[in-house]
Amino acid sequence: MCGIIGYTGPLEAKRLLIEGLAGLEYRGYDSAGIAFFRTDSKIQVIKQVGKVAALKEACEGISVGSHCGIGHTRWATHGGVTNENAHPHQAGQVTLIHNGIIENYHQLTEEFQLQDELVSQTDSEVAARVLDRFYQGDPFVAIQKLVGKLEGSYGFCILFADRPGEIYAVRSVSPLVAAYTHSGAVIASDLTALIPYTQSYFVVPEGEIVRLTPYKVQTYDLQTFAKTQPPVMTVNWNMDAAMKNGFPHFMLKEIHEQPEAMKNTILPRLSKGLPDFTDDGIDDEIFRSCTQVHIIACGTAMHAGMVAKTVMEPLLRIPVTVTIASEFRYQQPLIDEHTLVIVISQSGETIDTLAAMRLAREYGSQTLAIVNVKGSTIARESGYVLYTHAGPEIAVASTKAYSVQLAALYLIACRMALVRGKYTKEQARTFLAEFLDVIPAMEEMIKRREEMKAVVTHIINSPDAFFIGRGLDYAFSLEGALKLKEISYIHAEAYAAGELKHGTIALISDQVPVIATATQDNIFAKSMSNVREVKARGAFVILITKEGAKVDGDLADIHIMIPAVRDIFTVFPIAVVLQLIAYYASLGKNLDVDQPRNLAKSVTVE
Ligand code: M6R
Repeated sequence: MCGIIGYTGPLEAKRLLIEGLAGLEYRGYDSAGIAFFRTDSKIQVIKQVGKVAALKEACEGISVGSHCGIGHTRWATHGGVTNENAHPHQAGQVTLIHNGIIENYHQLTEEFQLQDELVSQTDSEVAARVLDRFYQGDPFVAIQKLVGKLEGSYGFCILFADRPGEIYAVRSVSPLVAAYTHSGAVIASDLTALIPYTQSYFVVPEGEIVRLTPYKVQTYDLQTFAKTQPPVMTVNWNMDAAMKNGFPHFMLKEIHEQPEAMKNTILPRLSKGLPDFTDDGIDDEIFRSCTQVHIIACGTAMHAGMVAKTVMEPLLRIPVTVTIASEFRYQQPLIDEHTLVIVISQSGETIDTLAAMRLAREYGSQTLAIVNVKGSTIARESGYVLYTHAGPEIAVASTKAYSVQLAALYLIACRMALVRGKYTKEQARTFLAEFLDVIPAMEEMIKRREEMKAVVTHIINSPDAFFIGRGLDYAFSLEGALKLKEISYIHAEAYAAGELKHGTIALISDQVPVIATATQDNIFAKSMSNVREVKARGAFVILITKEGAKVDGDLADIHIMIPAVRDIFTVFPIAVVLQLIAYYASLGKNLDVDQPRNLAKSVTVE
């Protein structure tokens, strides 16, 4: 979950590292730290609890002519949020930053008798001390020995005191990307940190060591130390994509970017009005031959899967199961070689999703990953990949990634219906033509954002909020509740509207906000009955329907109407509504919209 950056080259490293960390802060913001070689070739470490801004302040007045260093922004796993536990960690000749979890750090502490040496509670310091024990002047040998001892996940960037100007790195599971650029050599946990310097990069392969010098970035096989050449990749994101561009928050900017992201994800995959994955290299056979679909993901991505289930099952008439990745791993999943496993991940690095996908492959299932970050681990390891083209998503709360994940899933549903004979070409064309109507509908809801702003005055003083709906309305209510709770800290839950009376309705009392969605014609009347039930118990009802829906005048305290797109597509404009409600609630409570407490963007620990 932590952010990592390393730089060596002609530029001033301290400034570059701090700027890089500010861009990586969404990965964790418990503490931040840097280490760099000073002009006298000694290593200096500066670390500070809190955000990168606090580190920047701590660095002020420290004038150095540094050109090589490493930086880290922490999401605490082992040990509290203290300066001692902040990275970098130093042990003898070694200064190291780490992303991941060393699972056997207790055993290593005992084996190497480190108990009296440790100054932090972190697994990372244990790795630093073990590495120092192994270091006899050859970084490659020492790193090889260290890796041989480790269990868990790691991305390390390492400085050795007697090797000024050089950075060494190695990883297992935790991501690292690197590049040699006109401005020097850069390595980072995320592409966004490389974008200011280059659009060409490579993913640090597992089982290899990288050495960065001011003149070169070279990878070496971890066992033989022979030079290797990982494939170079390009990214078409630019700096603007990773900046706020006049918006007060990344989240608001990313909400606004949704119509464009939708077009970028859908339009290149249309051919003669039909979905076409030829350029993605996806073989129709995986759609034709499967007997079931199993969707695996976490958080928002899993909620996209819940929506897909409600769309796919009635259309394809095969079982579509959605499983939380962290649960899937420890079940004995009912999948086999006839199962199409769809894995969804914005980052492509979520550890539970990755592990679940690996397990699915062991079962012989076909895997199709819907991923936003090009070259990420899930993308590389999946049998097939469908990239979403949302550009970098920086706000911790996922918005545009959700919409484009849905877009990809709807395209898949349509293609599957076509190749399985559930749709004629004409029906598929109609589906897609109506699908494209969601883009102006989303634009309209973005323009009408003041309506959602007005709603939140009725929510932000309540400790609880409930989201209710049936069918598809329920599936996207799950995401609405997650959005609200993660950035406004209001306890929010989504319920299938018909289930309320089996317990939860006990929680509905005077003025409790209930966000009720009723956009599905076939169950509209049933949903209205459920809204009536909560209204009768004093709820403050924020009702969301399609334009033209007939609603009794006294039922809703606030009524938001979305454009009348076809029922199965209402999730798209409603996603905008629910995201904006959460955004303004967070703003209204004066909270940190983009970096909510306890969270990090990319969850690379179990
Ligand atoms: O990168 P991923 O899509 O795999 O991330 C999965 C979840 O951690 C993520 O969707 C999370 O729930 C959102 N940031 C919440 O808004």
